[in-house]
Amino acid sequence: MANSISSKFDRACIILDKYDRSPSKLIPILQDIQAEYKYLPEEIMTFISVALDISPSTVYGVATFYAHFTLEPKGKHVIKICDGTACHVKKSEGILNALEKDLGLNKNNKTTKDMMFTLETVACLGACGLAPAVVVDEKVHGLMTPEKTLALLDSIKKEELDNVQ
Ligand code: FES
Repeated sequence: MANSISSKFDRACIILDKYDRSPSKLIPILQDIQAEYKYLPEEIMTFISVALDISPSTVYGVATFYAHFTLEPKGKHVIKICDGTACHVKKSEGILNALEKDLGLNKNNKTTKDMMFTLETVACLGACGLAPAVVVDEKVHGLMTPEKTLALLDSIKKEELDNVQ
């Protein structure tokens, strides 16, 4: 346990050093921290505030101001359903409902208990010609239907099972 805790902070230290522990580099530091941990863990935020000698409220202020930062742990696979106008008109809601039902998730509960999947809705992805669009782990899938999206989800689940066996 002690090891995993120290290695957790070691990774934050490497990122801090990369930016010369400069308070003016807070945003890129937080971006790297999020890339490393997939979210901004509370204890790491506190650690950064001490290391950079800036107040925790400043660190939290930046982290909550930018929409791409997240303070919640996310699942291994992040599925984003576009709910911009073009996708909405082409029934993106049906895709969201099908995924929520399959994964047992809802608006207040976006990550599965096994931390395998996180479901999010996002504003226009800039791929309206492909509406309705779904992004799975940064890859855009266009012209989706609930059936196609569930098939995609099944293939990810199967891949995960194969990895375990
Ligand atoms: S509205 Fe979905 S990609 Fe533009």
